[in-house]
Amino acid sequence: MTAKTPPRTYRVKSFGCQMNVYDGERMAELLATRGITPAPEGEDADLVVLNTCHIREKAAEKVYSDIGRLVKAGKAAGREPMIAVAGCVAQAEGEEIMARAPAVSMVVGPQAYHRLPEMLDKAVKGERATDTDMPPIAKFDALPERRKIGPTAFLTVQEGCDKFCTYCVVPYTRGAEISRPYSDLVAEAHKLVEAGAREITLLGQNVSAWSGEDTKGHKVGLAGLIRDLARIDGLKRIRYTTSHPADMDDALIAAHGEIDKLMPYLHLPVQSGNDRVLKAMNRSHTAESYLRLLERFRAARPDLALSGDFIVGFPGETEAEFADTLALVDAVGYAQAYSFKYSPRPGTPAATMDGQVPKDVMDDRLQRLQALLNRDQHAFNEGSVGKTCQVLIERKGKHANQWLGKSPWLQSVWFDGDYTIGDLVEVELLEAGPNSLAGRIIEPVIA
Ligand code: 5AD
Ligand code: SF4
Repeated sequence: MTAKTPPRTYRVKSFGCQMNVYDGERMAELLATRGITPAPEGEDADLVVLNTCHIREKAAEKVYSDIGRLVKAGKAAGREPMIAVAGCVAQAEGEEIMARAPAVSMVVGPQAYHRLPEMLDKAVKGERATDTDMPPIAKFDALPERRKIGPTAFLTVQEGCDKFCTYCVVPYTRGAEISRPYSDLVAEAHKLVEAGAREITLLGQNVSAWSGEDTKGHKVGLAGLIRDLARIDGLKRIRYTTSHPADMDDALIAAHGEIDKLMPYLHLPVQSGNDRVLKAMNRSHTAESYLRLLERFRAARPDLALSGDFIVGFPGETEAEFADTLALVDAVGYAQAYSFKYSPRPGTPAATMDGQVPKDVMDDRLQRLQALLNRDQHAFNEGSVGKTCQVLIERKGKHANQWLGKSPWLQSVWFDGDYTIGDLVEVELLEAGPNSLAGRIIEPVIA
């Protein structure tokens, strides 16, 4: 490769989960320390970071077509964009990417992106660089300070997963479970609030497995961390995601009833409602133990909104087993949920299991499951009509004077008025749609 002009503008395109969004922001902060600025809307960037996801579908193929598109657009404009591939596809398929896509200058895994600036120096000299090392924690220590952000922020507290669900690629791409130290998290949360955050979502592939030691040397779990973060003035709301049923302890359940700033929302993936399938997935819960767990959460916080993840068409799943998933959905009444067709991930045990389910069967099951989930989401929204609640304003609406924010139950709420992003307002919920609610301001701005 020949030497390149140092990039002046960048664009980070993050796909997949919220942790990729967090990583994308941190990569942007790193590039900013080099004086590289975000490419203006609608303009091509000198450096494009494709922050990829490997969890489902033909993720790798998508990366190659994105690269192809960037190269083509560059040629048409008489320029050659610098391309970095980051995220979980980079981790899983870094070498192949380098071999197949000569236009890529940098391949950097999710645990190594703090080294992006040095890789950039090499790329400018014309050297291609791959870094898919997995040094735990090092990344966080090497990242620059948080910069000005919007009212909602992500904070990665835990990374990696030791659960090895048989369909999932995460334990291979994100590595073993690690918890970031307590004091680092408290410091970063303070920084985020100083930078404008009023709501923080604590992130981890297995966030409820977070553990650490507080300043007095006492062992604390996620509930203890949330309790301490709730003391930060100016921080109004705390959320966390994603949890595994196996790591939900009494303290976390109790926290939902005791900490006002902890929002009444729980994302707790179940994946299937059938015990044979759950076992084959290497999930450690049964449908019954999952329902029991939810009962305990609801006892602590009766208005808790529940969310989950589902996979249809796991290898060997029969129609009767799928019907158990529908029955579980009926029993829970989710406020919101994510559902996916099973996608074989190279290197995972399920990918080579017998009984791979045909695509048309998966399509049909997904459609039926989503019909139920949509029905329940709409019903949950309908059930909120008439309530008043606080809404944190996240952005302007499509019409003049219209604003959009989130309810404590993570519903999108629209209303009119003259406000500022980041305002917390008291709203009466007036009308429910499938994906959002219309509201009316009761109390303009809550300090
Ligand atoms: N196929 C389909 N869905 C998957 N998920 C994880 N791996 C796969 C896969 N191979 C889903 C699970 C998980 C969510 C993040 O993605 O439901 O909870
Ligand atoms: Fe994947 Fe299971 Fe770990 Fe979640 S708990 S990241 S689904 S292996």
